[in-house]
Order: sequence, then C-alpha cells, then structure tokens
Amino acid sequence: MPTATAAAHPNLAFVKYWGRRDADLNIPENGSISVNLSGATTTTTVTYDEVLGQDAVTLNDVVANTPTLTRVSAHLDRVRALAGITTRARVVSHNDFPADVGFASSASAFAALSLAATRAAGLDLDLYDLSILARKGSGSACRSIPDGFVEWLPGWDDASSYARSLAPCNHWDLRVVTVVLPGRPKLISSLAGHRAAPTSPFYRARLKEMPHTLDLVRQALLARDFASFGLAVEREAWSLHAVAMTSHSEGAPWLSGIFYMEPATVRLIRAVQLWRRDGLPVAFTLDAGPSVHLLCEGSSLGAVLAAVPSAVAGTAPQAIVSRPGRGAWLVNENDGAEAPSFSSTTL
Ligand code: PMV
Repeated sequence: MPTATAAAHPNLAFVKYWGRRDADLNIPENGSISVNLSGATTTTTVTYDEVLGQDAVTLNDVVANTPTLTRVSAHLDRVRALAGITTRARVVSHNDFPADVGFASSASAFAALSLAATRAAGLDLDLYDLSILARKGSGSACRSIPDGFVEWLPGWDDASSYARSLAPCNHWDLRVVTVVLPGRPKLISSLAGHRAAPTSPFYRARLKEMPHTLDLVRQALLARDFASFGLAVEREAWSLHAVAMTSHSEGAPWLSGIFYMEPATVRLIRAVQLWRRDGLPVAFTLDAGPSVHLLCEGSSLGAVLAAVPSAVAGTAPQAIVSRPGRGAWLVNENDGAEAPSFSSTTL
C-alpha cells in the first residue's frame, strides 16, 4: 500500500494574516512573515488503501470528528485530483504538543498532511507547489513548508499566493518563549475572525499600513536588528488585536468585539515593556488566544525565563522554548523514532 510519513512545525507570525480576499482558496488580504517553531511537531502518516470506502482519520489516537474529517478529506481530494487517483486514505496524525497552548496546530497539521499525502500518491511537488497546496488546507500552513524565517506573498490568485524562505534557520539565534496562559474556551475561531475582520473600521487602515509594516519587519529581521524588530512586531500584534476588538462576528451578534487576552496576558505584556526599558532586550507577540510569545536572542534567554514568574504570579505558567525550525520534512521509516521536540518548563 502506498504510504508516506511527514512532519512539520507550527509557525509564529511576526506580521499576521488576518482577513481573506478569497475564502475558498485562502488568499489573504495581506502578506505575512513568520518563523517555524522548533519546539513543537506534528507527524502524519498517509496510506492509500483500496479497501477503504471513505477516508479514515485519527488525530492523537482519537477518531476525528465530522468537521475535521470533512476538512481533511477535502484536502486529500485536492491531492487525488493532482495525482489522478481515487483511492481513499488512512491518515494517522500526532502532535507532540497539547492543544490550546497557543500554537496554530492547523498549520503544522496541513503542512505535514500535504507532504505525506502527495508523496504517498507518487507526487514530488517542489516547495512552491507544496506551499500552495498547504495554503488551501489552512492559510498559515503554507508558511510551515519552507525553512526558517518565511514570508507568505499574498498574491491575487491561486498561483501567486505562496510562502518562501526569507532566511535559513541559522540566520539569527532568535528564541520564542511561548508562555502558556490558559483561557476560556475560544468564542470565535480564527476562521470566523478572518471573516469578521472587514467589519472593523480599522481594517482598511491596517491594510494601508501593511506594506510599511512588512518592510520594517523584513529589514529588521534580515539585519538582525532586535530593537527595531521587537517594536515593529509588537505594534503589528496590537494592530491585529485592535481590528479584532472592533469586529462584529456574524455568528455571535451578542458580542461587541473579539477579545483574546486574559488578565495574565495583559500583566505579562506590560512587564515586557518595562523589562525592555530597564535594558532587557525582549519583545512579545500575541495570536488569536491568551498565550504570550516572548521573543529574544539566545544570549538573553536565561534572563527572560527568570523574569517571567514574577509577572504572572499565581498562574504557574508553562513555557515552551523554540528556535527557528526547518520546513516540512519526510520521515523515513528507517530513521527510527525521532526524539520529540516538545518540552515545556514550569516557570
Ligand atoms: O491560518 P489560520 O486560519 O489559522 O489563521 C492564522 C491567524 C493568526 O494566527 C492570528 C495569524 C497568523 O498569521 O498566524
């Protein structure tokens, strides 16, 4: 039976994807810049099997629910169409990190699935085609395909919207300390957030500023200029949250705006700004959830880890430390088990 196993890391955006020009193809309104997070990995095996009447999907040893199965099957249909086959597949996927820690697991999931499903189907897509395929499964998944620091060029149609590497993993010894701050169950998914974004009066202003934001972050990243990088990345996170907080979600007419932070989130990001004033080179970014991603260079990691507990006293936070990670890769069955990349520290 044709089979292949692939793995991928989630990624963290410094300039964020928020709002779509084409919801079917996941073509974003704006470009984004990210880094792959070495601290977490999804590993997925796809096996095409003639005896299957429909696709069979398990995630972390649990049979996938109907919405997930439908989404994975739709992605497999894209691969089957490319390969000219109709055989159904068995998909077995494992995350070595827990859900809801603040990583976009759909990015690593659809990146690993795209690589495993195409290889098992006998296709050998280059990074460009693989990134386009992964994007259709989950927008930000396209950024988990290339290595290291990555830019997603928004484009205007299927062929022009893809991600490419801006710099390799060893370009900059940047560390991401994800401080896991538990929140309430998410009221609004990121899909609903993308849909709601244009209802914010600040959405157009964000998009107008975007070419400048992308330039600032790209230049600072390429120059390894941490001070400029940190400020630009924090301002960009505020911009996304300002849009979210002033958006109206159709599915939740009782909600005046989308708010992702918890009290501990606010305490920590205010502390980060004071640490920086006092000479510690550290910055933060936020995604669509309460966890805070702290950014620093390797030389400041010890000081950053030591500073966090005082800022979030009483919450027993977990921290996951990542370096810039590689893009999606094939796992050779003969390689033996790879050591899990996930390890969290109680601060
Ligand atoms: O790819 P999605 O639909 O999960 O959207 C990702 C949205 C953010 O994580 C908030 C930003 C980003 O660019 O990763």
